[in-house]
Amino acid sequence: MPSPWLNVPLADYEGHMRSAGVQQLDALSDLFADAVERCRPESVAILGIAGGNGLERIDGNITRRVAGLDVNPLYLEAVRRRFAATYDLELHCVDLAEETAKLEPVHLVHAALVFEHAGVGRCLENALSLVAPGGALSAVLQLPGESGASVGASAFPSIQSLGSHFSLIEPTWFREELAHRGFRLKHQSRRALPSGKGFWMGVFGRA
Ligand SMILES: C[S@@+](CC[C@H](N)C(=O)[O-])C[C@H]1O[C@@H](n2cnc3c(N)ncnc32)[C@H](O)[C@@H]1O
Repeated sequence: MPSPWLNVPLADYEGHMRSAGVQQLDALSDLFADAVERCRPESVAILGIAGGNGLERIDGNITRRVAGLDVNPLYLEAVRRRFAATYDLELHCVDLAEETAKLEPVHLVHAALVFEHAGVGRCLENALSLVAPGGALSAVLQLPGESGASVGASAFPSIQSLGSHFSLIEPTWFREELAHRGFRLKHQSRRALPSGKGFWMGVFGRA
């Protein structure tokens, strides 16, 4: 089945994530900045890169290789337009839930709000297999709000179609799963959102 993300224009996605009732874009950018500051990776791969939120927070003197992966080719085209002059970009159009990502492993894999949409089967295998020896995975998971709605309300109806393809992932389950697969938790943090929801970020090192 084609991904529902193919029907969501980037302007709708970013407008929704910036809207007053959601306000997730800046929080995600801050968490990405935190991950790259902690790990200072020579190379980074962002799974579900969307329009490249937070890419400007990368220090190009430290991180020489920047790979972005997404199922939506138009999102990748926007990333290219916005950032090709700044970074040596490697962009891969891939359905992480169905296909194997084919690129050289990197020192940091960042996966923010992607497992909720792409699942923890093939997508998690892709994420872990892309971590180079001695490298890290930073994962951002959404925490539930009181309303329980997976996708917040906003003026962008195309976004609502994503709700039925979204499953929250328990950070405790995620930590245990990664421990079984040889990834040690190095850091974790929580960030509250104005909507009452929140984000959890875990940074895992390959043991
Ligand atoms: C909620 S957004 C990610 C937010 C972004 N990581 C950030 O920090 O701002 C989810 C992204 O994952 C992508 N995506 C969803 N399912 C995917 C799949 N199966 N394979 C690859 N990308 C997928 C979507 O196209 C979208 O760009």
